[in-house]
Amino acid sequence: MTTLHPDVTLLAHNYVRPEVQAAADYVGDSLELARLARDRVDTPYLVLAGVDFMAETAALLNPEKTVIHPEPFARCAMALRLTPGDLLEARARHPDAAVVSYVNSSAAVKAVSDVCCTSANAVEVVNALDEETVIFVPDRNLALHVAARTDKRIIVVPETGCCPVHHALTVAEIRESRRLYPGAEVMVHPETTPEVQAEADFIGSTSGMLRHAVATTAETVIVGTETGLIPLLEKASPGRRFIPASPHLVCPDMKMITLELIEAAIAGKGPVVTIPGDIAPRARAALERMLLISGG
Ligand code: 13P
Ligand code: SF4
Repeated sequence: MTTLHPDVTLLAHNYVRPEVQAAADYVGDSLELARLARDRVDTPYLVLAGVDFMAETAALLNPEKTVIHPEPFARCAMALRLTPGDLLEARARHPDAAVVSYVNSSAAVKAVSDVCCTSANAVEVVNALDEETVIFVPDRNLALHVAARTDKRIIVVPETGCCPVHHALTVAEIRESRRLYPGAEVMVHPETTPEVQAEADFIGSTSGMLRHAVATTAETVIVGTETGLIPLLEKASPGRRFIPASPHLVCPDMKMITLELIEAAIAGKGPVVTIPGDIAPRARAALERMLLISGG
């Protein structure tokens, strides 16, 4: 129950504004938010501070609760791009392949997938499948990250996109950061390009990076993900210095979620997330299969 209202549980992603995180009951990565939405909400309303697919995921995994997304225009640019039609065409081209959809996708795309994954469990999910060939959508960079860490054949659908925020991080920016901070460690999100990942000391989901920041002995860490993570890193590992790998690592959609919008959403009990009845059961099954593979 959030301090903002006794009937509301507020879940916030690691990238949203610090004041929104401070008001939240729980803050986490996509996988943690999915589990929290399913297991830890004992109020009639769940407010999701994050982008659209996170609110849809919460609504799919906890259909008993009313899930509110304070700003429906806060939409993951990568998730918007791939259509279910693109994926169905790919399935037709590769009838023996399993389809893994990254949670950064619409409910309609999840509904034509066999299983979902997040950046925290993508390799684990792919390795758990019986099929030797896997269509992995989106994103292209995470697909290549998985392909390098599994014996399965990974098919990247041409229409699949990348995260515009992480894809823009360059090798030159990483090298310049290393030059400015000699001895610093570099950690990046798997949505960055393979070339950038090759320069990194650690690759992980946002919460994976938070755990690594506590475990590392490096005095300075260069952070190759959305800058919203920096205050959380500083709190998790005080005394260490965290430097953004680029000033451009800002997701405008995550920043749309303000405390004012959350307060208005709680007062108005909406906008409520609704998933069409013809896609909800299949999208839910793909998410639940992921959670089953990934420790429940
Ligand atoms: P995480 O699952 O690592 O939190 O990432 C979500 C995301 O949108 C990354 O850009
Ligand atoms: Fe989507 Fe990229 Fe924003 Fe994450 S950072 S929500 S992948 S656009």
